Amino acid sequence: MKGLFLGIFLFLLGLVVVFGLIALKERRRALKLLSELRKEKRAKQEKPRDSSKLLGRALSLIREGIVIMDPYGRVVFTNRFARELLDIKKEDLGKPFYQAIKNFDVVSLINEAFSEKYRVWKEKKLKDRYVQIIFGSDMDEKVLLLIDLTPMKKYENLKRDFIANVSHELKTPLSAMKLSLETLEEECKGNQKAQLFISKAIERVSYMEQLIEDLITLSQLESVNFHVKFESLKLLPLVKEVLSALSDFIIKKGIVVEIEVPEKAQVYADANMLFAVLKNLIDNAIKYNREGGKVKISYKEHLNEFEIEVCDTGIGIPKSHIPFIFERFYRVERSRSRKSGGTGLGLSIVKLAVDKMGGKVEVESKEGEGTCFKVFLPKGRL
Ligand SMILES: Nc1ncnc2c1ncn2[C@@H]1O[C@H](COP(=O)(O)OP(=O)(O)OP(=O)(O)O)[C@@H](O)[C@H]1O
Ligand SMILES: [Mg+2]
Repeated sequence: MKGLFLGIFLFLLGLVVVFGLIALKERRRALKLLSELRKEKRAKQEKPRDSSKLLGRALSLIREGIVIMDPYGRVVFTNRFARELLDIKKEDLGKPFYQAIKNFDVVSLINEAFSEKYRVWKEKKLKDRYVQIIFGSDMDEKVLLLIDLTPMKKYENLKRDFIANVSHELKTPLSAMKLSLETLEEECKGNQKAQLFISKAIERVSYMEQLIEDLITLSQLESVNFHVKFESLKLLPLVKEVLSALSDFIIKKGIVVEIEVPEKAQVYADANMLFAVLKNLIDNAIKYNREGGKVKISYKEHLNEFEIEVCDTGIGIPKSHIPFIFERFYRVERSRSRKSGGTGLGLSIVKLAVDKMGGKVEVESKEGEGTCFKVFLPKGRL
């Protein structure tokens, strides 16, 4: 009897447990269903995301400035970088660019280019950043882009300082080496073989000295601390000074020099820079000339500028090479140029120096007939 009761009790307990478990499972399923329904409802209630807002937020993260104007020049969009650099406040949106943008230089650049399709300016300093400014108006809207060049500029400065430091460090040991070789050459008089090797070594050391001189000149010209010292100069004495520095070379090659520079010809330039320009051009006119060839240096005065021309009767420069000759280390014929001691830096010094003085250089050349380099410099305060 006792056993029967215990059996019935256990059976009932089992039933309670099974039903309890089933109820728990059902409840969980119902809760899950409910939460899914709630999620779905919330998603339906949420508005679709505004893509222009998202784009605006994304554009505020980039380190390039963007200003968009309508066809009437009213500012309709700016990103954060542009607002920081041009002092545009949020409330300036909708105002004409000349009121919204607080930088006078940038306003005048936009004014200049407003009816053009595309314009790019050289780098400009805005606050503590170096930026390249691009203006485009292919569509109805006008867009001003500010490309941040500061990191690149920092890298360039590092590179320039490194080259300048290495060049200075190499200068002294090279001079000492050359002096020792020259002394050794004296000591070895009579020993033809030794002299041949020593003269070759002296030639290479001289080449390295020239290379280092050119690198130092270039880094000085590029330095931010470099300032052009403009003054009124008489051209003829400067030309004569350059010719006397190159006299050995002129005599060795039997070059006939013709000077067409009036006694009273004056230029407004930096004496050292103009000396470097003339020296490199005349040096090339001799170096790439034939034996007994002619070099002519002439001067012309125009309305706003003066022109110095250096012409030769040499080998000329093939047309396809002309666009590249002002690039660093560029030589038309590497082997010939190296044999004549060229580093390929001369014309880049010319170009940089003339640029710094606010002028320009032009080249005309005919293969086998000769080359003319023309330097135009503004009259300035002459
Ligand atoms: N007057 C010229 N006639 C013919 N080729 C020329 C003349 N001037 C320059 N070139 C060419 O242009 C190249 C670049 O000239 P650049 O003066 O920069 O270098 P370089 O004369 O070789 O070396 P350096 O640094 O000693 O002047 C030369 O290697 C030469 O091939
Ligand atoms: Mg040269």
